[in-house]
Amino acid sequence: MRDGAGGGSRAMGGVRTLLVMVLIGCGEVTCLDWNPIPRKTVKHSELRGVQRFRAPGVWNYSVVSLAEGVGLLYVGAREALFALNMTDISREMYPAIRWPAPAQNKGECVQKGKNNQTECFNYVRFLQSYNRTHMYTCGTYAFQPKCSYIDVKRFTLDTAALEDGKGKCPYDPARGHTGLIVDKELYSATLHNFLGSEPVILRSLGQHYSMKTEFLPTWLNEPDFVGSALVRESSGSDIGDDDKIYFFFAERAEELDCDSELTVSRVARVCKGDVGGARTLQKKWTSFQKARLLCTLPERHVTFNTLRAMFTFSDRDWRNTAFFAIFHAQWGDVDVSAVCQYHISDLRRVFNGPFKEYKESAQKWVEYTGQVPSPRPGSCITRWHREHGYNSSLQLPDATLNFAKKHPLMHERAQARPLLLKRGVNFTRLAVTRVTALDQRLYSVLFIGTAEGWLYKALIVGSEVHVIEEVQLFEQPQPVESLTISHSKKLLYVGSRSEVLQIPLADCGRYVSLPDCLLSRDPYCAWDSEGRACVRTDQHHGSSALKQDVMLETFGRGRAKFTATPVPGPDRSRPRNVTVVVGSDLVLPCQLVSNVAQATWQFNDRELVLGGGTGTAGRFDAALRALVIGGAGPAQQGRYTCFSEERGVRFLSQTYQVAVVASAPVFMEARAPEPGAGLFWVLVVTLGSGCLLLLALALYLRRRLKLALGKGADMKPLESTLVYPISLPKEPPSLVHGKMASDSDDRFWETGNFYYSDGSLKIVPGHALSPPTAPPAPSPPTAIPGQPLHSPGRLSLGPLRGSGSNGYIRLNLSAAGEGGGGGGAEYASPFKEELRRTLQQRSILPDANPEESSV
Ligand SMILES: *[C@@H]1O[C@H](CO)[C@@H](O)[C@H](O)[C@H]1NC(C)=O
Ligand SMILES: *[C@@H]1O[C@H](CO)[C@@H](O)[C@H](O)[C@H]1NC(C)=O
Ligand SMILES: *[C@@H]1O[C@H](CO)[C@@H](O)[C@H](O)[C@H]1NC(C)=O
Ligand SMILES: *[C@@H]1O[C@H](CO)[C@@H](O)[C@H](O)[C@H]1NC(C)=O
Ligand SMILES: *[C@@H]1O[C@H](CO)[C@@H](O)[C@H](O)[C@H]1NC(C)=O
Ligand SMILES: *[C@@H]1O[C@H](CO)[C@@H](O)[C@H](O)[C@H]1NC(C)=O
Repeated sequence: MRDGAGGGSRAMGGVRTLLVMVLIGCGEVTCLDWNPIPRKTVKHSELRGVQRFRAPGVWNYSVVSLAEGVGLLYVGAREALFALNMTDISREMYPAIRWPAPAQNKGECVQKGKNNQTECFNYVRFLQSYNRTHMYTCGTYAFQPKCSYIDVKRFTLDTAALEDGKGKCPYDPARGHTGLIVDKELYSATLHNFLGSEPVILRSLGQHYSMKTEFLPTWLNEPDFVGSALVRESSGSDIGDDDKIYFFFAERAEELDCDSELTVSRVARVCKGDVGGARTLQKKWTSFQKARLLCTLPERHVTFNTLRAMFTFSDRDWRNTAFFAIFHAQWGDVDVSAVCQYHISDLRRVFNGPFKEYKESAQKWVEYTGQVPSPRPGSCITRWHREHGYNSSLQLPDATLNFAKKHPLMHERAQARPLLLKRGVNFTRLAVTRVTALDQRLYSVLFIGTAEGWLYKALIVGSEVHVIEEVQLFEQPQPVESLTISHSKKLLYVGSRSEVLQIPLADCGRYVSLPDCLLSRDPYCAWDSEGRACVRTDQHHGSSALKQDVMLETFGRGRAKFTATPVPGPDRSRPRNVTVVVGSDLVLPCQLVSNVAQATWQFNDRELVLGGGTGTAGRFDAALRALVIGGAGPAQQGRYTCFSEERGVRFLSQTYQVAVVASAPVFMEARAPEPGAGLFWVLVVTLGSGCLLLLALALYLRRRLKLALGKGADMKPLESTLVYPISLPKEPPSLVHGKMASDSDDRFWETGNFYYSDGSLKIVPGHALSPPTAPPAPSPPTAIPGQPLHSPGRLSLGPLRGSGSNGYIRLNLSAAGEGGGGGGAEYASPFKEELRRTLQQRSILPDANPEESSV
């Protein structure tokens, strides 16, 4: 349960809680959080302990293969292969293998109408260990796939003996495929002709002939292969079962189901010992069976049809095997991603259940209710078979094989409820690990990569998910193309278009206080009370006791066990001086410890009851992340203290000493106003409005183009004081994400928001600028570095009190010393940091009712 912070009395807290807890899918046991908020957001610039690898001129680091035994990470990229030190991937352990497709192949590829910039290269698509001395690798080889062995001792590729890669590797680098080496045999699932029209699940490389799927749309219908897994079901089997290979894919539904959906997700399996039939199904799988894979909230009629990625969690006991799958759906304009988990026993049950058959009369697939031949079609050869004279699939009777050929689809479905749903995000890959926490319980931790290059780290607690953090992996948004975990080194490797990245599974140093460390619920992290630091449990060798609370057992509802724990950063207890003119709106920002924390305020050491109604009380504005008090008068003078509150824990965030003055603006700067101040203001205002015109357009275009906010990273300190017109919103903007709805979020932070010359911001009434009316002239859709963005057209949110229509916010973000303004630097830098961070924040898509837009 997300604790509502027990803030029932605080209106804002209440609104927030309501909005945050937009829950769907309340089952009997638990509610599914519709859009879970990552507790922390870690920007690219804040990443620590990261190593990166990229080679000049090499792209598409899509395939990563970990060899923990020799401490190497093998990487397959476009026309190159690398062997890296797995503890520090920036170090190459062998000279790279260059494996370009020859010019002749590229020429033919171009002649066949493929793109010489993107397609006619050799994209390495498969790289796995084959035996003790060799690896096996396949590449698209400019649309003529080839494979070969790599001698791991010398890290050389046998280019003289290239094998045909047909059926082992896709022709088209953009098409889905999967492959697995099991006991020196390669199982691959791909499209095995140039046009990509002929799908196959192939076994090759063994001493025997190769095995294929029957080329029938009932077997495979335009599949997009996503993953494969070996499950050693022969181990400890009391029926003498065989090992099985599972394949996961999405395919065209047409003619297979009565439902109107175009795409369905599937799991298929074959037996390792299958050698095909003698007459029927010669050299074809006799054990091929497939079933629908469903990720659904039935009571909400929400179904995810498109499988995007999967991860197999293998345990020493195959009975604990779990499959985690990423699904995608589009509801209107909104991308929705979901993670569903399937247990091996669920799949076995479905494959042992009834078959489906195609009813010509009804033209649809229905449950097969007739007699099933014996031995059961699709079954592996077990002890029972051997006892009945069926020593291999070659001995199976035609009746069984014919049935198997015509009935590849199972009637029942493997069905699961989403563990995690996320709106406005495209999940691309996931990896899962299990970790034993200090409470001796075993927890699953999910690492999920997105199309924008973010990584979500989520903890599964029962049937609930807690998102520990979201991490921005790359400076430029790009999809996460592979995720691999090293359990021994506790590292995660991320393959992408531009580089390979190595990141620790946990960076506990991010949590600087005991409650923050405990509230993280990160099973890798614990508080070392002696060292007074949050440490990785596996790296702690001292004798002092470690504290951890993954189940949040020490955090009683509303009980504050820890109070007034300072937020990290500059001395927060030192008050900032804020001076405003009487009648202006007072805006006091409050930095929160996490995305799920809420602000609570004290005024002159008394709890401030926040509400909208009475003018004196003020309210917490989620968009500004600030306390807003309209029309400040002498009664509002005093000391304001903000706490960041999470599950009853209060962190002291900021203290303000507010003075309300009657006179016209006097800015408290060491640099006294010059005699030509009037001229200066005219200049500032003129320049300011010019900039605004450009910025407004820039902002508009940027929004249109949905450009990422990366530009914000380039922001330089403001050199001078800028003046902006601003009005404050009357209603708190809707809060979606613990941050805010994108619109108001951007709007406010782009205003350049708050203040300070000496740590003070002024909202000065009576110096209104008429907002630009005509649409501004075209300008490049980029933010001007060093200048806050502003959209005056969208900012007319209501007049500032006492100012007619508009007021000014005066900004002084100049660096320390410049203004001699005492704590200027100290205040300015976290503020600039905050501004930059918020500008970078990706926009959060507005709420969409799944019921309205799905189905
Ligand atoms: C390879 O990388 C380039 C550059 O990042 C990208 O444009 C292209 O789509 C990638 N191709 C594949 C097949 O991943
Ligand atoms: C890999 O790097 C680590 C740390 O940088 C080093 O200790 C180790 O010896 C290296 N491994 C090899 C095989 O060189
Ligand atoms: C690709 O083809 C275009 C024209 O068809 C040519 O100008 C260009 O040089 C080619 N690029 C490469 C990398 O071969
Ligand atoms: C591994 O396979 C390669 C290629 O088939 C072969 O040349 C090599 O002898 C094998 N190594 C071992 C140890 O079996
Ligand atoms: C099956 O194998 C057993 C011994 O492994 C043998 O005795 C039996 O004759 C075989 N049956 C057939 C039908 O080949
Ligand atoms: C705020 O004002 C008080 C006295 O008015 C002064 O002592 C203090 O240094 C000021 N603080 C800052 C940060 O300027």
